[in-house]
Amino acid sequence: MQDVISQVIPHLSGYDEPTLDTAFSVLAEEVSASAAASAANDPEAFRLLWLGRKQGRLKSISETWLKDAPPEARKPLGMRFNQLKQQIEAVLDAPVAAKAAVVQGIDVSLPGTAHKPGIPHPLLTTLDAIVTVFHHLGYSTRLGPQVESDFYNFEALNFPPNHPARDTQDTLQIAGQESKPGRDRLLMRTHTSPVQIRTMVAEQPPLRIVIPGKVHRNDAADATHSPIFHQIEGLCVDTNITFSDLKGTLDHAMRALFGSSVKTRFFPSFFPFTEPSADVQISCIFCGGSGCRKCKHSGWIELLGCGMVDPAVFDAVTGERRKLGRDDGAYDPAKVSGFAFGMGVERFAMILHGVSDIGQFYSGDMRFLEQFS
Ligand code: PHE
Repeated sequence: MQDVISQVIPHLSGYDEPTLDTAFSVLAEEVSASAAASAANDPEAFRLLWLGRKQGRLKSISETWLKDAPPEARKPLGMRFNQLKQQIEAVLDAPVAAKAAVVQGIDVSLPGTAHKPGIPHPLLTTLDAIVTVFHHLGYSTRLGPQVESDFYNFEALNFPPNHPARDTQDTLQIAGQESKPGRDRLLMRTHTSPVQIRTMVAEQPPLRIVIPGKVHRNDAADATHSPIFHQIEGLCVDTNITFSDLKGTLDHAMRALFGSSVKTRFFPSFFPFTEPSADVQISCIFCGGSGCRKCKHSGWIELLGCGMVDPAVFDAVTGERRKLGRDDGAYDPAKVSGFAFGMGVERFAMILHGVSDIGQFYSGDMRFLEQFS
């Protein structure tokens, strides 16, 4: 700015109106020039230059000019200083306009700043791919809250209060809930299974739904664990649903996701809300089943949990529906049966993309993320 505006106080050759007009139009031009040079980038420097209390140009000039002014020139001088001050204040009030003035100073021959288009996060792509496989089978999507009650997260899913099965899902409890009855206490949902209950309480069978979402556990972060991660739940309820329907559905889904040569196998397992329950393994997609480091030389990779909906779950749903006046026996275990499954999105993404540290998904590191573009 120093280059544009000299610090010297201009000489005033007389106090008649034409001389004042000329002197002030020079000052007005100086204000415009310094606004274009720096008001947008550094409005404080611009303000100090013109309005600074000690060294401000307006103050020095007005003092010098007023000192020698004949009494009749004070009014026309004062008026013109006020106008100039308004011009300066208008620049400070309108940073956008000032910026536009600066644009004139841009060298348009310089290369521009490239803004790369964004890409979906690899976890979202994976979530989408899984959900799409089930959409093609006629499933639709349901969502539920991340802050959940003990009833939906545990009790209705056949985890009784104080039952050791709760220890398998280290839970983050919301503080200050002690005065509430146990079933109403809030916690961060540890799985997407509570949305099974919410959906069945609200809707009649037949149901074929997938439930993607965030879940929370009081787990220490390591290469394969994160206290916040994503699951996709599946639920199918209808008449005559059997374990072979569950096997066929998951076998198809695994082949659709990992390739048609992938085999699935079901291992007996335990979940309080399914009976019988199973862990599903797929043949190792890295070695084809012959054994490698990734599958710990077993030839198999464990991927998800599943099972037939436990009649106790249907009973809990019926109890809730009754409270809401939906006393229709729609979920009578003698009439309907169903299966459910739950899988971790991060685990799928890690296997699909060969990622060995779950933390990479949350790091925001462009060198990692750009590999998925
Ligand atoms: N909710 C279970 C978990 O998070 C997974 C699961 C879902 C198992 C549905 C069986 C049926 O571990």
